[in-house]
Amino acid sequence: MIILQHHRRPPSATDSLVQQVGQRVFVIVCVTRETQHHCLVFFHAREVSSFHRMDTTPAFPTLRVVSHPLVQHKLSLLRNRTTPTKIFKELVDEIATLIAYEATSELALEEAPVETPLERMTGKRVSGKKLTLVPILRAGLGMVEGVARLVPAARVGHIGLYRDHDTLEPVDYYFKIPGDAAERDFFLLDPMLATGGSATAAVTSLKRAGATRIRFLCLVAAPEGIHRLAETHPDVIVYCAALDRELNEHGYILPGLGDAGDRLFGTR
Ligand code: PRP
Ligand code: URA
Repeated sequence: MIILQHHRRPPSATDSLVQQVGQRVFVIVCVTRETQHHCLVFFHAREVSSFHRMDTTPAFPTLRVVSHPLVQHKLSLLRNRTTPTKIFKELVDEIATLIAYEATSELALEEAPVETPLERMTGKRVSGKKLTLVPILRAGLGMVEGVARLVPAARVGHIGLYRDHDTLEPVDYYFKIPGDAAERDFFLLDPMLATGGSATAAVTSLKRAGATRIRFLCLVAAPEGIHRLAETHPDVIVYCAALDRELNEHGYILPGLGDAGDRLFGTR
Protein backbone atom coordinates (compact mmCIF):
# COMPACT_ATOMS: atom_id res chain seq x y z
CA MET A 1 0.00 0.00 0.00
CA ILE A 2 1.34 3.45 -0.88
CA ILE A 3 0.16 6.82 0.36
CA LEU A 4 0.45 9.72 -2.06
CA GLN A 5 -0.13 13.31 -1.05
CA HIS A 6 -1.41 15.48 -3.85
CA HIS A 7 -2.09 19.17 -3.46
CA ARG A 8 -4.09 21.37 -5.84
CA ARG A 9 -4.54 18.65 -8.42
CA PRO A 10 -7.86 17.45 -9.82
CA PRO A 11 -8.75 13.81 -9.07
CA SER A 12 -8.02 12.78 -12.68
CA ALA A 13 -4.38 13.72 -12.18
CA THR A 14 -4.02 10.78 -9.83
CA ASP A 15 -4.86 8.28 -12.56
CA SER A 16 -1.43 8.27 -14.18
CA LEU A 17 0.28 7.94 -10.82
CA VAL A 18 -1.92 5.02 -9.91
CA GLN A 19 -1.15 3.38 -13.23
CA GLN A 20 2.59 3.91 -12.90
CA VAL A 21 2.64 2.25 -9.52
CA GLY A 22 0.46 -0.58 -10.83
CA GLN A 23 -0.76 -2.01 -7.54
CA ARG A 24 -3.22 -1.32 -4.75
CA VAL A 25 -2.90 2.35 -3.93
CA PHE A 26 -4.59 4.73 -1.56
CA VAL A 27 -4.47 8.32 -2.70
CA ILE A 28 -5.21 11.30 -0.50
CA VAL A 29 -6.04 14.41 -2.48
CA CYS A 30 -6.48 17.97 -1.29
CA VAL A 31 -8.93 19.54 -3.71
CA THR A 32 -9.52 23.26 -3.82
CA ARG A 33 -11.79 24.01 -6.76
CA GLU A 34 -13.65 20.93 -7.97
CA THR A 35 -15.31 19.91 -4.73
CA GLN A 36 -15.84 23.03 -2.71
CA HIS A 37 -18.13 21.36 -0.20
CA HIS A 38 -15.27 19.39 1.32
CA CYS A 39 -11.54 19.76 1.10
CA LEU A 40 -10.27 16.25 1.67
CA VAL A 41 -11.23 13.55 -0.80
CA PHE A 42 -10.20 9.96 -0.44
CA PHE A 43 -9.79 7.79 -3.50
CA HIS A 44 -9.22 4.09 -3.44
CA ALA A 45 -8.09 2.58 -6.74
CA ARG A 46 -9.14 -1.01 -6.16
CA GLU A 47 -8.09 -2.81 -9.33
CA VAL A 48 -5.73 -0.53 -11.14
CA SER A 49 -5.39 -2.66 -14.23
CA SER A 50 -9.08 -3.49 -14.68
CA PHE A 51 -12.18 -1.57 -15.73
CA HIS A 52 -13.25 -1.06 -12.10
CA ARG A 53 -12.69 2.55 -11.15
CA MET A 54 -15.13 3.90 -8.65
CA ASP A 55 -14.25 6.84 -6.48
CA THR A 56 -15.49 7.04 -2.92
CA THR A 57 -15.24 9.77 -0.33
CA PRO A 58 -15.90 9.70 3.41
CA ALA A 59 -18.05 12.84 3.16
CA PHE A 60 -20.54 10.81 1.08
CA PRO A 61 -20.32 7.22 2.31
CA THR A 62 -23.25 6.01 0.16
CA LEU A 63 -21.81 7.43 -3.08
CA ARG A 64 -19.85 5.68 -5.82
CA VAL A 65 -18.62 7.89 -8.67
CA VAL A 66 -17.82 6.01 -11.87
CA SER A 67 -14.68 7.77 -13.05
CA HIS A 68 -13.99 5.67 -16.14
CA PRO A 69 -12.66 7.89 -18.97
CA LEU A 70 -15.42 6.91 -21.39
CA VAL A 71 -18.08 7.84 -18.86
CA GLN A 72 -16.45 11.20 -18.20
CA HIS A 73 -16.00 11.88 -21.94
CA LYS A 74 -19.63 11.08 -22.73
CA LEU A 75 -20.84 13.08 -19.75
CA SER A 76 -19.14 16.22 -21.08
CA LEU A 77 -20.93 15.76 -24.41
CA LEU A 78 -24.19 15.31 -22.51
CA ARG A 79 -23.69 18.51 -20.52
CA ASN A 80 -23.07 20.57 -23.67
CA ARG A 81 -26.10 22.80 -24.26
CA THR A 82 -25.82 22.37 -28.05
CA THR A 83 -26.08 18.56 -27.97
CA PRO A 84 -29.25 17.70 -29.89
CA THR A 85 -32.03 15.47 -28.51
CA LYS A 86 -31.05 12.44 -30.62
CA ILE A 87 -27.44 12.46 -29.40
CA PHE A 88 -28.52 13.30 -25.85
CA LYS A 89 -30.73 10.20 -25.82
CA GLU A 90 -27.91 8.00 -27.15
CA LEU A 91 -25.46 9.33 -24.58
CA VAL A 92 -27.84 8.74 -21.65
CA ASP A 93 -28.29 5.19 -22.92
CA GLU A 94 -24.54 4.56 -23.25
CA ILE A 95 -23.61 6.07 -19.89
CA ALA A 96 -26.37 4.05 -18.24
CA THR A 97 -24.78 0.87 -19.61
CA LEU A 98 -21.36 1.83 -18.25
CA ILE A 99 -22.72 2.79 -14.82
CA ALA A 100 -24.72 -0.45 -14.70
CA TYR A 101 -21.51 -2.37 -15.37
CA GLU A 102 -20.11 -0.94 -12.15
CA ALA A 103 -23.34 -1.22 -10.19
CA THR A 104 -23.54 -4.93 -11.00
CA SER A 105 -19.93 -5.57 -9.99
CA GLU A 106 -20.91 -6.77 -6.52
CA LEU A 107 -23.65 -9.18 -7.56
CA ALA A 108 -23.05 -12.58 -5.97
CA LEU A 109 -21.84 -15.47 -8.14
CA GLU A 110 -22.37 -19.18 -7.79
CA GLU A 111 -20.76 -22.12 -9.52
CA ALA A 112 -22.47 -23.42 -12.64
CA PRO A 113 -21.64 -26.56 -14.60
CA VAL A 114 -20.87 -25.90 -18.28
CA GLU A 115 -20.25 -28.32 -21.11
CA THR A 116 -17.90 -26.74 -23.60
CA PRO A 117 -17.41 -28.36 -27.04
CA LEU A 118 -14.35 -30.08 -25.51
CA GLU A 119 -15.17 -30.96 -21.91
CA ARG A 120 -17.18 -30.31 -18.78
CA MET A 121 -16.13 -27.49 -16.50
CA THR A 122 -17.44 -25.48 -13.59
CA GLY A 123 -18.24 -21.95 -14.65
CA LYS A 124 -20.01 -19.16 -12.80
CA ARG A 125 -23.40 -17.49 -12.96
CA VAL A 126 -25.04 -14.63 -11.11
CA SER A 127 -26.79 -16.16 -8.15
CA GLY A 128 -29.63 -15.28 -5.89
CA LYS A 129 -32.11 -12.54 -6.39
CA LYS A 130 -33.85 -11.54 -9.56
CA LEU A 131 -33.11 -8.08 -10.86
CA THR A 132 -35.72 -5.37 -11.43
CA LEU A 133 -35.13 -2.02 -13.10
CA VAL A 134 -37.36 0.83 -11.97
CA PRO A 135 -37.14 4.08 -13.91
CA ILE A 136 -38.56 7.20 -12.26
CA LEU A 137 -40.77 8.76 -14.95
CA ARG A 138 -40.05 10.51 -17.14
CA ALA A 139 -36.31 10.91 -17.40
CA GLY A 140 -35.44 7.51 -15.90
CA LEU A 141 -36.95 5.92 -19.01
CA GLY A 142 -33.88 7.08 -20.93
CA MET A 143 -31.68 4.74 -18.87
CA VAL A 144 -33.74 1.54 -19.09
CA GLU A 145 -32.47 0.13 -22.40
CA GLY A 146 -28.86 0.90 -21.53
CA VAL A 147 -29.06 -1.06 -18.29
CA ALA A 148 -31.22 -3.84 -19.77
CA ARG A 149 -28.53 -4.42 -22.40
CA LEU A 150 -26.40 -5.93 -19.61
CA VAL A 151 -29.25 -7.71 -17.79
CA PRO A 152 -31.81 -8.54 -20.48
CA ALA A 153 -33.79 -10.86 -18.18
CA ALA A 154 -34.52 -8.04 -15.72
CA ARG A 155 -38.14 -7.08 -15.14
CA VAL A 156 -39.08 -3.42 -15.40
CA GLY A 157 -41.28 -1.56 -12.92
CA HIS A 158 -42.26 2.11 -13.12
CA ILE A 159 -42.59 4.93 -10.62
CA GLY A 160 -44.28 8.13 -11.76
CA LEU A 161 -43.10 11.27 -9.92
CA TYR A 162 -42.72 14.88 -10.87
CA ARG A 163 -41.24 17.74 -8.92
CA ASP A 164 -43.64 20.52 -8.00
CA HIS A 165 -42.11 23.67 -9.48
CA ASP A 166 -42.85 25.83 -6.42
CA THR A 167 -42.19 23.53 -3.48
CA LEU A 168 -39.64 21.29 -5.31
CA GLU A 169 -41.29 18.38 -3.48
CA PRO A 170 -42.18 15.21 -5.44
CA VAL A 171 -45.76 14.50 -6.47
CA ASP A 172 -46.43 10.82 -7.22
CA TYR A 173 -48.83 9.64 -9.89
CA TYR A 174 -47.93 6.03 -10.76
CA PHE A 175 -46.45 2.93 -9.12
CA LYS A 176 -46.14 -0.56 -10.62
CA ILE A 177 -43.51 -3.19 -9.79
CA PRO A 178 -43.44 -7.02 -9.86
CA GLY A 179 -45.33 -8.66 -6.99
CA ASP A 180 -42.43 -10.62 -5.47
CA ALA A 181 -40.53 -7.50 -4.36
CA ALA A 182 -38.89 -9.09 -1.31
CA GLU A 183 -37.11 -11.61 -3.55
CA ARG A 184 -35.66 -9.02 -5.92
CA ASP A 185 -32.71 -6.68 -6.29
CA PHE A 186 -33.84 -3.24 -7.46
CA PHE A 187 -31.99 -0.74 -9.63
CA LEU A 188 -33.80 2.58 -9.35
CA LEU A 189 -33.01 4.75 -12.40
CA ASP A 190 -33.11 8.53 -12.75
CA PRO A 191 -30.48 10.69 -14.48
CA MET A 192 -30.73 13.48 -11.87
CA LEU A 193 -30.41 13.44 -8.08
CA ALA A 194 -31.01 17.09 -7.17
CA THR A 195 -32.76 17.87 -3.85
CA GLY A 196 -33.16 14.13 -3.40
CA GLY A 197 -36.91 14.46 -2.85
CA SER A 198 -37.86 12.25 -5.80
CA ALA A 199 -35.27 9.56 -5.06
CA THR A 200 -36.20 9.45 -1.37
CA ALA A 201 -39.91 9.19 -2.14
CA ALA A 202 -39.28 6.47 -4.76
CA VAL A 203 -37.17 4.38 -2.36
CA THR A 204 -39.82 4.79 0.37
CA SER A 205 -42.49 3.52 -2.07
CA LEU A 206 -40.33 0.55 -3.09
CA LYS A 207 -39.67 -0.40 0.54
CA ARG A 208 -43.38 -0.07 1.37
CA ALA A 209 -44.01 -2.59 -1.41
CA GLY A 210 -41.51 -5.02 0.17
CA ALA A 211 -38.19 -4.20 -1.51
CA THR A 212 -35.15 -4.53 0.73
CA ARG A 213 -32.18 -4.31 -1.65
CA ILE A 214 -32.16 -1.11 -3.70
CA ARG A 215 -29.38 0.64 -5.62
CA PHE A 216 -29.86 4.08 -7.14
CA LEU A 217 -28.27 4.72 -10.55
CA CYS A 218 -28.06 8.29 -11.82
CA LEU A 219 -25.87 10.39 -14.07
CA VAL A 220 -25.41 13.60 -12.10
CA ALA A 221 -25.86 14.05 -8.36
CA ALA A 222 -25.85 17.11 -6.11
CA PRO A 223 -24.42 16.99 -2.57
CA GLU A 224 -27.81 18.02 -1.17
CA GLY A 225 -29.52 15.05 -2.82
CA ILE A 226 -26.95 12.50 -1.71
CA HIS A 227 -27.26 13.68 1.90
CA ARG A 228 -31.07 13.73 1.87
CA LEU A 229 -31.34 10.23 0.43
CA ALA A 230 -28.70 8.90 2.85
CA GLU A 231 -30.45 10.44 5.87
CA THR A 232 -33.66 8.52 5.19
CA HIS A 233 -32.22 5.48 3.40
CA PRO A 234 -28.57 4.93 4.41
CA ASP A 235 -28.69 1.42 2.97
CA VAL A 236 -29.13 2.67 -0.63
CA ILE A 237 -25.86 3.02 -2.53
CA VAL A 238 -25.85 5.70 -5.22
CA TYR A 239 -23.87 5.16 -8.44
CA CYS A 240 -23.33 8.23 -10.59
CA ALA A 241 -21.05 9.68 -13.26
CA ALA A 242 -20.49 12.98 -11.44
CA LEU A 243 -20.94 14.64 -8.09
CA ASP A 244 -21.65 18.24 -9.04
CA ARG A 245 -21.14 21.42 -7.01
CA GLU A 246 -24.54 22.56 -5.75
CA LEU A 247 -28.16 23.42 -6.55
CA ASN A 248 -29.31 26.81 -7.77
CA GLU A 249 -32.31 28.63 -6.28
CA HIS A 250 -34.67 26.69 -8.57
CA GLY A 251 -33.32 23.31 -7.48
CA TYR A 252 -31.31 22.74 -10.66
CA ILE A 253 -27.91 21.09 -10.42
CA LEU A 254 -24.85 23.27 -11.13
CA PRO A 255 -23.07 22.87 -13.45
CA GLY A 256 -25.47 20.02 -14.29
CA LEU A 257 -26.96 19.37 -17.69
CA GLY A 258 -30.28 21.20 -17.49
CA ASP A 259 -33.68 19.53 -17.39
CA ALA A 260 -33.00 15.89 -18.21
CA GLY A 261 -36.62 15.03 -19.09
CA ASP A 262 -37.01 17.97 -21.43
CA ARG A 263 -33.67 17.32 -23.14
CA LEU A 264 -34.43 13.60 -23.54
CA PHE A 265 -37.89 14.06 -24.97
CA GLY A 266 -37.48 17.44 -26.69
CA THR A 267 -40.25 19.09 -24.70
CA ARG A 268 -38.77 22.50 -24.07
C1 PRP B 1 -36.40 15.47 -12.56
C2 PRP B 1 -35.47 14.28 -12.51
C3 PRP B 1 -35.75 13.70 -11.16
C4 PRP B 1 -36.05 14.92 -10.33
C5 PRP B 1 -34.85 15.24 -9.50
O1 PRP B 1 -37.66 15.07 -12.88
O2 PRP B 1 -35.66 13.40 -13.57
O3 PRP B 1 -36.84 12.80 -11.14
O4 PRP B 1 -36.31 15.99 -11.23
O5 PRP B 1 -35.09 16.30 -8.66
P1 PRP B 1 -35.12 16.14 -7.07
O6 PRP B 1 -33.93 15.35 -6.68
O7 PRP B 1 -35.06 17.57 -6.60
O8 PRP B 1 -36.41 15.48 -6.67
P2 PRP B 1 -38.89 16.11 -13.02
O9 PRP B 1 -39.53 16.32 -11.69
O10 PRP B 1 -38.42 17.32 -13.73
O11 PRP B 1 -39.94 15.30 -13.86
P3 PRP B 1 -39.88 14.81 -15.39
O12 PRP B 1 -38.86 13.70 -15.46
O13 PRP B 1 -41.25 14.32 -15.63
O14 PRP B 1 -39.49 15.99 -16.26
N1 URA C 1 -34.09 17.80 -12.56
C1 URA C 1 -33.40 17.95 -13.73
O1 URA C 1 -33.81 17.43 -14.76
N2 URA C 1 -32.28 18.68 -13.71
C2 URA C 1 -31.80 19.25 -12.59
O2 URA C 1 -30.76 19.91 -12.65
C3 URA C 1 -32.53 19.09 -11.40
C4 URA C 1 -33.66 18.34 -11.41
